Amino acid sequence: MRRALLFIGLITLGISNLGVANTFIINPKQILNIETGELIKSQVLVRDGKIIEISRSIKSTNDIEIINLPKLTLLPGLMDAHVHLIGNTDLKGYEGFSESSYLATLYGAKNAKNTLLAGFTTVRNVGAGNYSDVALKQAINQKAIIGPTLLVSGPALGITGGHCDSNTLPPDFEHRSDGVADGPWDIRKKVRENKKYGADLIKFCATGGVMSKNTNLRTKQYTQEEMEAIVDEAHSRGMKVAAHAHGLEGIRAAIMAGVDSVEHSSLIDEQTIELAKSKGVYLAMDIYVSDFILGEGVEQGIPEYSLNKERQVGRLQRENFKKAVDANANLVFGTDAGIFPHGKNARQFKYMVEWGMTSLQAIQASTISTAKLFDMNDTGQIKESYQADIIGVEGNPLEDITILENVKFVMSDGVVIK
Ligand code: ARG
Repeated sequence: MRRALLFIGLITLGISNLGVANTFIINPKQILNIETGELIKSQVLVRDGKIIEISRSIKSTNDIEIINLPKLTLLPGLMDAHVHLIGNTDLKGYEGFSESSYLATLYGAKNAKNTLLAGFTTVRNVGAGNYSDVALKQAINQKAIIGPTLLVSGPALGITGGHCDSNTLPPDFEHRSDGVADGPWDIRKKVRENKKYGADLIKFCATGGVMSKNTNLRTKQYTQEEMEAIVDEAHSRGMKVAAHAHGLEGIRAAIMAGVDSVEHSSLIDEQTIELAKSKGVYLAMDIYVSDFILGEGVEQGIPEYSLNKERQVGRLQRENFKKAVDANANLVFGTDAGIFPHGKNARQFKYMVEWGMTSLQAIQASTISTAKLFDMNDTGQIKESYQADIIGVEGNPLEDITILENVKFVMSDGVVIK
């Protein structure tokens, strides 16, 4: 009777989400080998969160649950190196001040779930006050809620009055962001504090930004000495460094200081792309979000000062992305989800293909390359002994990359989520 009910349950769900079994055979239409682009007819055996075997016919036993996905193409779970999960994404401009950090963290749970359901099984949260991103990560790891595997930065470091500060309120409110630190020793202390409270990496602002008030995209923030202090302190504590930078001077300074990734990289030039390559620096260029900001920004309540800055930078960022692709730079997939709704991250793939990547390169950017940046050497591919982060889509994403916007099956850490 129980078995019969279980069976009916499986039929109505199409797949299992009962979460009891820990051993599965996934039986898809095909697997996309994202190293070569080949489509492989094969099954996948998953046990205790790991991929155990990939072969044509895997012998089943009683304790193994079979997941039949006759229409789906499997590929590894997607990764996004630049998201902002904390907070209600509908709140733009001043409205953000109406949200307590408790409420923002609860919205983080909702956003994490939507991200995972969209097929993003590992993401990096770059900047959050009150270590709410650490709390979110803990809740996911403790299986209190569902969400992607997270890497979190805690509060992003920035100069007083810079993009990583908060410049919207008048001095009466004495308001500043949690990560503000000026001068090498203040900075080193902040890095140590972030480490103490659970950050995996350090994010800092090396130039002004689009969404912040009274900052200039082209102006460098932090001196060379300060950037070097951030990188030295972070690296000596085993943390990577991600630098927000639009303007060329800030991008160059961050690369020279030894950061691991440059976020946005909007106004990078050919020479600096080569510099990044020679230093093994990854570029996370968020080339979709501009269309969202300029298309839906007014309606969404994005302030005019941000729209104005976006108009100056969006198009150039895409042109420079193309240069980076042509130069074979280390490009990773980073979207800035949070400006646009979480779970829509895959919209960026289309832009990456329009601006010079093959579909396979775009997929590799969000799997193999991002996994390298994250130092996760058992994630980002469907391979034996790798973590069982697997997604399924209908059709071949190499023929139509937008298929990735509609993920049908998600397994995260060996658990069927969708
Ligand atoms: N968080 C970034 C900033 O405020 C968003 C930049 C979005 N624009 C873009 N073209 N990537 O600077």
